[in-house]
Amino acid sequence: MKESELQLEYINRIAELNAGRELKYHSVVFGCQMNEKDSEKLSGILERAGYRRTDREEDADLIIYNTCTVRENADKRLFGRLGVVKQFKRQRKDLIICICGCMMQEEGVIEKIKTSYPYVDLIFGTFNIYKFAELLYNRLVSDGPIIDIWKESADIVEDLPSRRKYPFKSGVNIMYGCDNFCSYCIVPYVRGRERSRDDSEIMEEVKRLADDGVVEVMLLGQNVNSYGKGLSKSIGFPELLYRVSKVPGIRRVRFMTSHPKDLSDELIEVIRENESIARHLHLPLQSGSDRILRLMNRKYTKDRYLDLALKIRDRIPDISITTDIIMGFPTEEEGDVDDTLDVIERVRFDGAFTFEYSKRTGTAAASMEGQVSHEKVRENFDRVLSKVQEVSKEQAKRFEGRTMEVLVEGENEKDRSMYTGRISQNNVVHFKKEGLCIGDFAQVRLAECKGFYYNGVAVL
Ligand code: SAH
Ligand code: SF4
Ligand code: F3S
Repeated sequence: MKESELQLEYINRIAELNAGRELKYHSVVFGCQMNEKDSEKLSGILERAGYRRTDREEDADLIIYNTCTVRENADKRLFGRLGVVKQFKRQRKDLIICICGCMMQEEGVIEKIKTSYPYVDLIFGTFNIYKFAELLYNRLVSDGPIIDIWKESADIVEDLPSRRKYPFKSGVNIMYGCDNFCSYCIVPYVRGRERSRDDSEIMEEVKRLADDGVVEVMLLGQNVNSYGKGLSKSIGFPELLYRVSKVPGIRRVRFMTSHPKDLSDELIEVIRENESIARHLHLPLQSGSDRILRLMNRKYTKDRYLDLALKIRDRIPDISITTDIIMGFPTEEEGDVDDTLDVIERVRFDGAFTFEYSKRTGTAAASMEGQVSHEKVRENFDRVLSKVQEVSKEQAKRFEGRTMEVLVEGENEKDRSMYTGRISQNNVVHFKKEGLCIGDFAQVRLAECKGFYYNGVAVL
């Protein structure tokens, strides 16, 4: 029997067990787009099994947390939540609490949950997430908690029910895991070795999504530029991106994340030549210092990053380039931060996430000498943050006054008479509803730049 058929069988069994009861689930997701995508599948499975979604944790009969562990504060947030649900569990013995995701793959976490949060019912990891229905069924028919963590898996099981968060846009996994082993990063340990998904399966999913009304897809992978390695046929990311951009009905294609070390000229050309590929590239820098980049095992230098980013700006002038920066990597000093500031000024990032370095047990950087104190990091952090903000505000100004295509993504939360959408460059625009619907593309004049977003006027 095919794995997905087996899981559908378990979904039916859960539905039978729960027949006649009005059960609700509450789903919480931490971390990146890949976790978001996984949680859509978990929700899809639960809904197929008869559970209805609720936004109120206290109303739920089942709560599922999909965890992240890329930085320590992600861990803290989970444990904070688990402390709160303890009271719910005390009041309602039949409440089912499930935890899965990257943090469950980390050394020592399971032991900690077992001792400090023994009321958790079901724990699984990143490699067996497709077994959720089977595991939940087993938990429902047994008395004690179920813990199932795999060390690895080569299997890719995608054809399971999914409940998309947005009807008009969707993530699509193109690869799993990561082989880069940047010295600070835990992802290769918790998500395993890099595996590319078969291109025909990706294309089928994109076509299915388009038939279902999706107009924007985001291709997901930790390092999309190395897509195709290990597949029996020869296909690289530029070719895949091109094919996806040509699927009828798909009007905008995004992708995350590009590693600078292997972003090819071919990719730049494919973006340049195809308007439906978003004018946005997230190109994590991490540091501008050659010395730190070497210690980070990033496999590029400051000059190579600059050459690449400036070449992209030259070939595709309207593109927005955003980045990630880590502050306080072991041994980082003022001079290294100056190099980072120099790159920010020269590339003129349209946006940047700045993270304080977080020591992850088991990674190479965790045992490096010269760990930097929090106080020291804070001194430099503000310098970098204010430079990033200054530059990206100036960058946003360049589109002010222009009329651009906006995907209408939802109502403005502060003013229900307004919509919020995004331009191809990923910047947010607020504008009056004027007969438009969520999921429409609209021509909007970016009347006023407010720093990181625009107030616009739809041009009908
Ligand atoms: N695969 C992506 C990034 C995934 S993690 C890439 O290589 O670009 C997202 C971001 O989290 C990274 O770009 C990095 O800036 C940050 N990050 C990862 N590990 C970190 C750590 N230990 N401390 C602080 N930031 C970290
Ligand atoms: Fe982590 Fe580096 Fe892989 Fe990104 S490329 S997931 S930062 S190891
Ligand atoms: Fe976090 Fe796992 Fe993504 S550690 S950033 S959820 S791959």
